[in-house]
Amino acid sequence: MSRYLLLPAPAANRVYADATATMLRAELTVLGRAALDGRIGTVEPETVAGVQYLALDADRLDERDLAFLGLASAFYALFERDGELLRPVAVPSPEKYPSDLLTILKYQGKTNEQFTRLVLNITAASTARPDGVLDGTLRVLDPVCGRGTTLSQAVMYGLDAVGIDVDTKDFELYSSFFTTWLKDHRFKHAAATTAVRREKSVIAKKYEAAFAAQKADYLAGRKQTLTCFAGDTLVTSQLLKPGSVDVVVGDLPYGVQHGSRGPAAWCATRSTCWKRHFPAGPHGSAPAGDGAGVEHSGSAAGTGRRTPHRRRPDGALRAGYDDLQHRVDRAITRDVIVARRD
Ligand SMILES: C[S@@+](CC[C@H](N)C(=O)[O-])C[C@H]1O[C@@H](n2cnc3c(N)ncnc32)[C@H](O)[C@@H]1O
Repeated sequence: MSRYLLLPAPAANRVYADATATMLRAELTVLGRAALDGRIGTVEPETVAGVQYLALDADRLDERDLAFLGLASAFYALFERDGELLRPVAVPSPEKYPSDLLTILKYQGKTNEQFTRLVLNITAASTARPDGVLDGTLRVLDPVCGRGTTLSQAVMYGLDAVGIDVDTKDFELYSSFFTTWLKDHRFKHAAATTAVRREKSVIAKKYEAAFAAQKADYLAGRKQTLTCFAGDTLVTSQLLKPGSVDVVVGDLPYGVQHGSRGPAAWCATRSTCWKRHFPAGPHGSAPAGDGAGVEHSGSAAGTGRRTPHRRRPDGALRAGYDDLQHRVDRAITRDVIVARRD
């Protein structure tokens, strides 16, 4: 049995930084159980020469184990303890594109990038096919995508991503940003915006980009796609094919912080959105949910939720996931709910 020490990356956001070690520990625990069959054992803090690490014991970490550890939202470096010394361990990077895809856009209401990566990681690991996050075969939906933090993170992992947001300005800004980003980096691509019509009326606008990191992949038809709709998430089943989504990740709208609409309207949306997209209802009353019908069986849904005082929904995954509650700012505490549709 070897002891490994994982060095967390410093977080840019100060409030979130206070929670980083606890969150990372919970994230590694979930990844360990869901994707690594418990092979990494208990994760615990350890200080070496005044520097804080997270320590884990494992028999021997193979390439796949290391790839999963490298996904961790605050991963920086990994060492294997060798007596008094720490031996660096090479961990494959999950990033298929330059990280400016996630960092260029800055705006009020943006979901913390590290947090978004964490929710995507643990949700993807909770599906029936966790390896799909490594081999690029999971399709990710953010039903309340804003300006695309989840979508960009999914793209970074080499996954196909689809997003829906009712705010047309968010749609315009994100789609034009994404096209510019593809052009600036000279990634071969095709992108277009069209109207989605049902029974002669327009129900949404659709942006679709097909692209690849390597020109040869693009020319051979090995393309990734990013699809974005300006529309109401409640009509998802009219926008996407049944069974076309493996992972649903969203940071649900909350309170008055998201513009002019009153909290009551948001609450109504929030509760309906839960029922549509997340298998366990917000109040535990609908364990199977009515679903939007677009999720695969074996898919998982995860979300940040700013109402942790309410009891956790029935059907929400518990062990490890319960430790992800954290402060967002002085006024708001957020937790994470993940559920699986079997
Ligand atoms: C917390 S924000 C998501 C922010 C996003 N993760 C980001 O980083 O840009 C919630 C989003 O839900 C969207 N929203 C609220 N009600 C909606 C609905 N009925 N259909 C689609 N989107 C909705 C809002 O416009 C807002 O962009």
